[in-house]
Amino acid sequence: MTATARFKDKVVIVSGGADGMGAACVRQLAAEGAHVFALDVKPDIAGALAAELNAGGARVEALKADVMDEAELRAAIATVLDRTGGRVDSLIIVAGGSASGLTADIDLAIWDRLYKLNLRSTLVACQAVIPAMRAQGKGSIVTMASISGVRGDPEWAPYNAAKAAILSLTQSLAWEEGGYGIRVNAICPGPIASERMLATISEAELEDYNDATALCRIGRAPELAEAILFLASDQASFITGASLVADGGLTARTSQPTRFYHQRRQGQHRNPA
Ligand SMILES: NC(=O)c1ccc[n+]([C@@H]2O[C@H](COP(=O)([O-])OP(=O)(O)OC[C@H]3O[C@@H](n4cnc5c(N)ncnc54)[C@H](O)[C@@H]3O)[C@@H](O)[C@H]2O)c1
Repeated sequence: MTATARFKDKVVIVSGGADGMGAACVRQLAAEGAHVFALDVKPDIAGALAAELNAGGARVEALKADVMDEAELRAAIATVLDRTGGRVDSLIIVAGGSASGLTADIDLAIWDRLYKLNLRSTLVACQAVIPAMRAQGKGSIVTMASISGVRGDPEWAPYNAAKAAILSLTQSLAWEEGGYGIRVNAICPGPIASERMLATISEAELEDYNDATALCRIGRAPELAEAILFLASDQASFITGASLVADGGLTARTSQPTRFYHQRRQGQHRNPA
């Protein structure tokens, strides 16, 4: 199967499809001939993306859905099923978010909010598509975890805990739904250059992120879209319950401050800038 044939006429829902990695998925899916539904809390931005892609012959529909709002998220997915005659081939969950603060002081409202935004919304979206996928005897779901769900990070406990729980939810769902032909996998991005990410860090912090990866740079949204679409596509037909780390090698290292790491910061072991 060639990459360009993977999604021809497939119905794919992307939550958080207006911007960042979600928008990159929408763009790639549109290029591969999918009928894409971009769900987002910012329907104007998703709508502008859809209009741009549809002008080039794509089939992209933007729907308003705040994934924090269970009723609105279920209604948006019901609208998709209504428009497609009950068909949905893939669900790609991207919408999510973070907050920071010392765990000892964390406001429980922030803890609850991040669980709702990341974990509960993932469950709701999966529940909303699974009956249709079972009826088809086929479907794929990609959940949005993070390398932050694989390890701990100081000041990010609510985010990391929610992403770790998404990995566990993904594994349970993979087993429960595997007998119906539904695959469920998680993507674990490392630092990715979304507008939001770049807006929250300084130049010096960006350099630290670049240094933290084996590839000496943070990732780009289209690169993550490639990994996500692989998991969603039939190219990954025997992969379920898995988590794919796409982090430029960040978590491949123990973080010991070895001589190599310091030499690389001085300019060795890399191409000149
Ligand atoms: N950027 C990174 O470095 C990184 C790394 C690992 C995981 N992630 C995860 O990837 C996902 C997207 O990250 P990004 O950096 O591309 O983010 P982003 O903020 O650029 O984009 C996320 C998209 O989701 C939408 N969104 C946000 N809250 C929403 C809500 N309540 N309902 C519906 N849509 C909503 C936004 O409008 C936006 O279009 C998040 O789940 C994040 O936790 C990001």
